[in-house]
Amino acid sequence: MLSENLQNLFNAQIAIENTASYEYLHLAIWCASNGFDESAKFFFKQSDEERSHMLKLIHYTLERESVVKAGYPAPSTLKIETIFDVLQTFYDNEKKVTASVYKLVDTATEERDYNAVQFLQWYVQEQHEEETLARTLIEKANLIGREGSYRYFIDQMIGKSGG
Ligand SMILES: [Fe+2]
Ligand SMILES: [Fe+2]
Repeated sequence: MLSENLQNLFNAQIAIENTASYEYLHLAIWCASNGFDESAKFFFKQSDEERSHMLKLIHYTLERESVVKAGYPAPSTLKIETIFDVLQTFYDNEKKVTASVYKLVDTATEERDYNAVQFLQWYVQEQHEEETLARTLIEKANLIGREGSYRYFIDQMIGKSGG
């Protein structure tokens, strides 16, 4: 069984991944509704991935004979006006997720729960990849700029990044 403290943090992480899934769905819909079809595909896929991160945590928490509190994410308050807002939202969110993963690893380490520490290494690696991806997309979008057919080129660039 996970300690009560870890159970709470695992549940918080489940909620965070669920919110990420929900917010990326919101970004995907914004992209699809504003002519960014390749970016929409990218964020639909990101949304699915976040859901799989949530499920992985749920299964692990259950395997540790601990309580999972299923919750619904709060309605999105995201204000998206440009594709740059989409990318910044992605990056900011990934940084938030990383901070909460680190908090979990800190606590699991303090409690000498090495099973949980090992399980969480996957999330540490995942966050490294996600933050690098989000940051790279912002850098490339800035290189393309905000003139002429930039919307088209940014959309192609996001689509090619694969995610
Ligand atoms: Fe995630
Ligand atoms: Fe992510």
